[in-house]
Amino acid sequence: MGGVRKKVADIAGNALKIEKLSKSYGTLKVLDEIDVEVKKGERVALLGPSGCGKTTILKIVAGLTRPDGGNILLEVSKIGFVFQEDRLIPWKTVCGNLEFVSSDTHKVEKVLKLVRLWDYRNFYPLQLSGGMKQRVNLARALLVEPDLLLLDEPFKGLDLEIKAELMNEILRMCRSMSITALLVTHDLREALIFADRIYVLSPAPARVKNVLEIDLPSEHRDFCDTKLLDKEKEVLSQGFWLPFGLPESPLRSK
Ligand SMILES: Nc1ncnc2c1ncn2[C@@H]1O[C@H](COP(=O)(O)OP(=O)(O)O)[C@@H](O)[C@H]1O
Ligand SMILES: [Mg+2]
Repeated sequence: MGGVRKKVADIAGNALKIEKLSKSYGTLKVLDEIDVEVKKGERVALLGPSGCGKTTILKIVAGLTRPDGGNILLEVSKIGFVFQEDRLIPWKTVCGNLEFVSSDTHKVEKVLKLVRLWDYRNFYPLQLSGGMKQRVNLARALLVEPDLLLLDEPFKGLDLEIKAELMNEILRMCRSMSITALLVTHDLREALIFADRIYVLSPAPARVKNVLEIDLPSEHRDFCDTKLLDKEKEVLSQGFWLPFGLPESPLRSK
């Protein structure tokens, strides 16, 4: 039995619809009937523990991995993928890395300015900070002028300040370019700042445990926003990720 991935003309205002998606690697069952909807222009997060199958979902959506069962329905023309690891070519400069993807030097200049790396165009990956490398990664995904952006833990391992800056940058670009975004993360706070809706996944085989609508204004959400912290407390008090395998936290009983 194989799954189906196809582009369709109309999925009721959705850019992406994932229906009953299943996947195993040999005897390891990773995804168990995952359902996700992403409306056009929306930002959605998949929140789940390490190893639950988040990257696998994105790869299936991008057509890089075949599903065993279920449907991927897409009403988008181009997909940009920000991979978990930066995958930059070490002996090429920032500009060289992007020109490897597109020979259109005007486009390269435009995206480098968008992610504010134009002044660093002649730097090599080794000379860049983690946040800058991720911005090159983002620029590379934007080069294809996507209407759906898949983001695989792009903020992992970054300092809080750099994380907040990069996140704001991505949010700004999604808004200004009308890009629909699907973010994968294991970080609740990241998901809360980024998403209009969060799908909470269980450990592998991943199932959708909860769907959280984040009814906060999407502009100017930041780590210090008290409403956001209240939302975080609310989510924590419901014990959404205890099933991720963490011991009962004393914080939860307060
Ligand atoms: N190509 C593959 N072949 C075999 N096992 C894989 C492959 N890709 C991922 N896995 C396994 O599937 C599980 C889920 O992986 P992944 O989708 O990368 O999870 P996550 O992104 O949530 O950490 C892990 O146990 C991983 O080792
Ligand atoms: Mg992953």
